[in-house]
Amino acid sequence: MTGGAGFIGSNFVHHVVRHTDDHVVVADKLTYAGNRASLASLPEDRVSLVVGDIADAALMDGLIADADVVVHFAAESHNDNSLDNPRPFLDTNIIGTYTILEAARRHGTRLHHVSTDEVYGDLELDDPARFTESTAYNPSSPYSSTKAASDMLVRAWVRSFGVQATISNCSNNYGPYQHVEKFIPRQITNVVRGIRPKLYGSGTNVRDWIHADDHSRAVLTIIERGRIGETYLIGADGEKDNKSVVELILTLMGQPADAYDHVADRSGHDLRYAIDSTKLRTELGWSPVYDDFETGLAATIEWYVENEAWWSGAKDGVEEFYARKGH
Ligand code: NAD
Ligand code: TYD
Repeated sequence: MTGGAGFIGSNFVHHVVRHTDDHVVVADKLTYAGNRASLASLPEDRVSLVVGDIADAALMDGLIADADVVVHFAAESHNDNSLDNPRPFLDTNIIGTYTILEAARRHGTRLHHVSTDEVYGDLELDDPARFTESTAYNPSSPYSSTKAASDMLVRAWVRSFGVQATISNCSNNYGPYQHVEKFIPRQITNVVRGIRPKLYGSGTNVRDWIHADDHSRAVLTIIERGRIGETYLIGADGEKDNKSVVELILTLMGQPADAYDHVADRSGHDLRYAIDSTKLRTELGWSPVYDDFETGLAATIEWYVENEAWWSGAKDGVEEFYARKGH
């Protein structure tokens, strides 16, 4: 698999080790977002880490030649970084995915491509519609446009070259091992550090939250039972506006619910994401285990409070970056 030292990838490795007998080879460049420590507690006979770039054709060819299944998580993943410097997003998300597709094509290897609901653009707050597998692509940011491009490459390689691939597009994940640049870990670690949480703009933007474990189970389900060439949307009916999430974090951490600041909004900020996951639920029988956001969030807060050593090294640099951007 690729990107196994990142947030969702490392949660997936833990999940696979807990729930299967499979051996996992993680290919990861260990960018600022990759962390060896996220895999440190796992048995060495089940998980090995190869440090390298998914755009390295020779490396990918050798690894994919030996794999039964490739699960492709590696990406540049943060919208704010993509607005600051888009280039790594093109290199990793587009050229990296192309490199993996070419190796999967040569070796006839089964591939699952992990993507995001952000490829569909955004919805109005009062729109009764949610994203489905037939919603037209309409990405807003350098991040989401490069993920959209990567999805299109996978579809084309399936159709033109017969690559044995599936795609999933998931909504916003939360849980342990998420980088402190992202919304929920940033606010939790701000409170731990005595910094007031920062809400972009009015805070009315809505994200459809799913626990990373539920995402992992969905990906395993698609690998086991998904139909080749198909796309599956993954979501847990977890729509919440950002203001409510910040208020809940503050309350769960024993602070006044209004002890946060409004800061500059993100350029091109998507208003609302919402997933209709009927296809995954009815065709493949998946449903989320974490159906109570408050319980999942409380466990996530506890993890960040207990694992300060995991995130403290990245915190100051992230806050300096955001201060420069007015966030
Ligand atoms: P992340 O930024 O936490 O982790 C990305 C990982 O990929 C890191 O370990 C990094 O070192 C590695 N990586 C980056 N560039 C690489 C390269 N060129 N070669 C090899 N490794 C490289 O990201 P995440 O949040 O865990 O997201 C994982 C995947 O899930 C991405 O494809 C993302 O688009 C998708 N996704 C994320 C979310 C979310 O809420 N975070 C939601 C839906 C889909
Ligand atoms: P983020 O975690 O960056 O995920 P995405 O952009 O992929 O949805 O942000 C989630 C939401 O939180 C998004 O609407 C932007 C907002 N946000 C804040 O209000 N404050 C913050 O400090 C950050 C990082 C994000």
